[in-house]
Amino acid sequence: MTKLLALSGSLRAVSMNKTVLEACIKLAPAEVDITLYNGLAGLPPFNPDLDGDNPPKKIVTLRKQIGAADGLVISCPEYAHGIPGSFKNMLDWLVSCVEFPEKPVLLINTSPQSERIIPLLMEVLMTMSARVVSNASLTLPLKGRKLDADGIARNAEFGGQLRDSLASFVDAINAV
Ligand SMILES: Cc1cc2nc3c(=O)[nH]c(=O)nc-3n(C[C@H](O)[C@H](O)[C@H](O)COP(=O)(O)O)c2cc1C
Repeated sequence: MTKLLALSGSLRAVSMNKTVLEACIKLAPAEVDITLYNGLAGLPPFNPDLDGDNPPKKIVTLRKQIGAADGLVISCPEYAHGIPGSFKNMLDWLVSCVEFPEKPVLLINTSPQSERIIPLLMEVLMTMSARVVSNASLTLPLKGRKLDADGIARNAEFGGQLRDSLASFVDAINAV
């Protein structure tokens, strides 16, 4: 069983980035288990003074979930040509932990006009020693389509691309 942790960079209740990750859960092959991380809104602001021997409980939980995953699937919006603050806050908590380096990452972008977000995330994630699987990453024109997770999964084009992307990602994880 390959275990993936899905991380949305949006806190919106009806978020396209969260929805595409829910579609991934529906499309995952039987031998792939995808869990959606739901703790982003509750993470404390990153403070190196708190990142010692006893980090906050929610950070311990986050790091455990990262450590237990064979790979991460990230779908994140672009805010003001940057990474949303709450998502960057989570990444900052992962900079110095032992669980994150070499973690395989699949990047999904739900809006082609947000052309900066993938390079921005790549820069930060590579600096954090993640293994971004670039050939599996994909951009889907979902913005404005008002599709729910079922609608994305059932759409021949979007569902097909997500399925292929997940398959390439899992192959890359298991090839090492
Ligand atoms: C504060 C804010 C800033 C944004 N800045 C950008 C931007 O710089 N470039 C862009 O392409 N979209 C920008 N957007 C649009 C979002 O990236 C877009 O609506 C995205 O699909 C929202 O994702 P969600 O549905 O998962 O919340 C911005 C949206 C907000 C709320």
